[in-house]
Amino acid sequence: MPLSSASTPGVYKTDFRFRCIACGDLSDAASQDFRCSQCGDLLEITYPGWQRAKPDPTHLKTTWRNRRISQCAVDLSGVWRFRDLLPALDDDQQAITLREGNTPLYELPRCARITGVPRLFAKHQGMNPTASFKDTGMTVAATFARRAGFRWVACASTGNTSASMAAYAARGGMRSLVLVPEGKISWSKLSQALDYGAVTCQLRTDFDGCLRLPQQLVMKAPVYQLNSINPFRLEGQKTLALELLEQLDWQPLDHIIVPGGNLGNSSAIGKALIEMNDLGLISRLPKLSVIQAEGANALVRTLREAGGKRLISVPAETRATAIRIGNPASWKKAVHVLEATGGACEQVSEIEIAQAKAEIGAEGIGCEPASAVTLAGLKKLVKQGFVKPDETVVLVLTGNLLKDPDFTIDFHRGDMFGGESPSSAALKPLRHAPIVLDATLDAVIGALEQAE
Ligand code: F0G
Repeated sequence: MPLSSASTPGVYKTDFRFRCIACGDLSDAASQDFRCSQCGDLLEITYPGWQRAKPDPTHLKTTWRNRRISQCAVDLSGVWRFRDLLPALDDDQQAITLREGNTPLYELPRCARITGVPRLFAKHQGMNPTASFKDTGMTVAATFARRAGFRWVACASTGNTSASMAAYAARGGMRSLVLVPEGKISWSKLSQALDYGAVTCQLRTDFDGCLRLPQQLVMKAPVYQLNSINPFRLEGQKTLALELLEQLDWQPLDHIIVPGGNLGNSSAIGKALIEMNDLGLISRLPKLSVIQAEGANALVRTLREAGGKRLISVPAETRATAIRIGNPASWKKAVHVLEATGGACEQVSEIEIAQAKAEIGAEGIGCEPASAVTLAGLKKLVKQGFVKPDETVVLVLTGNLLKDPDFTIDFHRGDMFGGESPSSAALKPLRHAPIVLDATLDAVIGALEQAE
């Protein structure tokens, strides 16, 4: 039973179409693999109604604020609350929701001092129901899967997509098939998919090897593809930007920094910013920058060596397993939003990632290693003069610390980076290894004194 069946009225019923990002072909329906029927490129969702009559920005803002006191399921969701800018449902009760979104925006005073950027915030998407940003996209895509009559959904994943998909499929009464690279995702993420009842296949390949299969599978079997090439996912992930701007009271900000893996999230946030600017919800575009691990730097190389014109794939290797991706599906969309917003693309080393993660942790905020690339990247962007000290910066923390406890424990025990190299010496003050003691008061007081 929904908590309350009376949702607040929408400003606008958002009829939508699919548009190919390469040839611009418009269609009312997408094929099973979400590829353009003319040229095979990716699709995005577009809202032709906005050309005819733009939704009124003031009315939208008021509607979204008013929904915050409603007890209806779609209003309690931090995604569906913004449904006026999402593909329309026939009935609000169709939404499969776990109350996703509604994530906190934290100030980061310590990291602000470290980077020399006083107005530094973290938008913590790890505070979503399955502890990553994937839930915001999954609520929309899973809803449209069920609406289209599918019994099975599938994805390839570095762990978070699969955890999220399995949860939303279970909530929506669908079955789910998960394809993950064997031995290359964290146990925490794997355990989520198992508990939510997914058929979980550990494949002897990497993420890029896994990703090819759902694409082929959906052409042969009635299975709905829930990777981020599914444009409904990106529509849901768009709401991060809406919620963030609302939290900033719609005051302009200068930079949003996100980790880049398969590049769906950066594409979604960029699409939101462009749409918000077009609709007059914001008066200027923040720069959206993407940070990758050095060992999984396909977008960095694509921009530097090919001017963003063709994808340079890489064999991916990083301990930030969420972004261990060498052949990102949404690279063209990401190049587009970087160009449109004037953002930068940087890469950071394994040591820089570990240090940044511990620095965020020292603020009392736990994130995944993949999320910490944002702070590591910010340090570089400040050094380059791309980010100025008087600017407002938001780091998107994509996943929760508990998603990958092995990384954190190895870091604090000093089991990472093979001993003390000069570059890892900077990490020493950030390490807090567990102390094994006899169960006596003296031993505990001794530990306290040592820590002083
Ligand atoms: N951060 C985390 C915690 C992730 O799980 C991912 C991607 C990213 C960043 C990168 O986002 O792919 O949209 O550029 N994880 C996917 C997965 C690939 O399968 O869970 P992206």
